Amino acid sequence: MNEHAIDLRSDTVTLPSPAMRQAMFEARLGDDVYGEDPTINRLQAMAAERLGKEAALFVPSGTMANLVCLLSHCGRGDEAIMGHMAHTFLFEAGGSAAVGGIHPHTVPNQPDGTLDLDDIRAAIRDPNNEHYPRTRLICLENTHNRCGGAVLAPDYMAQVRALADDYGLAIHLDGARVFDAAVALGVPASVVAQDADSVSFCLSKGLAAPVGSVVCGTEAFIRSARRMRKLLGGGMRQAGVLAGAGIVALDTMVDRLAEDHANARRLAEGLADLHGILLDPVRVTTNIVIFALAPDGLSAEELVAGLEARGVKMGAIGGRKIRAVTHYGVQAEDIEQAIATTRAVIEAAS
Ligand SMILES: Cc1ncc(COP(=O)(O)O)c(C=O)c1O
Repeated sequence: MNEHAIDLRSDTVTLPSPAMRQAMFEARLGDDVYGEDPTINRLQAMAAERLGKEAALFVPSGTMANLVCLLSHCGRGDEAIMGHMAHTFLFEAGGSAAVGGIHPHTVPNQPDGTLDLDDIRAAIRDPNNEHYPRTRLICLENTHNRCGGAVLAPDYMAQVRALADDYGLAIHLDGARVFDAAVALGVPASVVAQDADSVSFCLSKGLAAPVGSVVCGTEAFIRSARRMRKLLGGGMRQAGVLAGAGIVALDTMVDRLAEDHANARRLAEGLADLHGILLDPVRVTTNIVIFALAPDGLSAEELVAGLEARGVKMGAIGGRKIRAVTHYGVQAEDIEQAIATTRAVIEAAS
């Protein structure tokens, strides 16, 4: 067994770099609820600039980032269209409904993470019919977590923008991994975000900061988001200690995401060669590898347990599927080890 576990469960397990710890130690601080934390103000200005938006807001988590956005776009009884595999729909504790009375209207995510334009159009309600909730918002996710880190192309985003404009709807982009999308597309993050009214992104995933996400949008939108953050208890006072790491994350961790993508592709190719693993490596374009197990072999839970016993961690995600995510804490040799270990567990069971 390896000295250290190879942890492919998520890019959220990343630990801060030495430069981040130093920046946290040295961060200039103030009360951010008064808008007086210079480190947070700097991070927000940087984030707005990188995402091509007027303003930005630092929040504790990706979940809160999405929730402040939905609460800012929608009132009680309003409807938000989102994919049935959207993180916001599946994994955020139903916050938009529980806290905001926002009605989620799901349409199928296609395997490439998109929502079919006809499905979106069919989901939009007639505003003159009093029986219906009011459609306000379309939510997209880029990269798409449950669709295997799929990247939405800028021309698809532009088509959704045109559709949203036809109906006077807003677009929120859950860009938890927006920089992965940008690196995979070879464009600035501002291009990925350009057709969204609001975008959220996480500092604490592939960018390896310990805590924090950022919401970007117009000045007016961010004023509203700030109010919603306060409502949710997310005003954090001297949180420049966290934002300091976030600044280092934006400065030093974006370009290296290409390494995670290469590692994910290599992992996918290695796994696809193994007996009983169903996976098309060509679909793996960022840092998430989702694969299925053939019906006649090990269950996902059995394979994950076998791997963990040998020092490799992956996540069983329901059905016969497993997710592996590459990140800053995983090197190319770890990927070879993970492939060899998976082969060993499968062979031991057959
Ligand atoms: C696409 C997406 N959005 C939002 C989140 C929520 O982020 P957090 O765990 O910081 O609340 C995640 C977390 O994995 C995610 O993958």
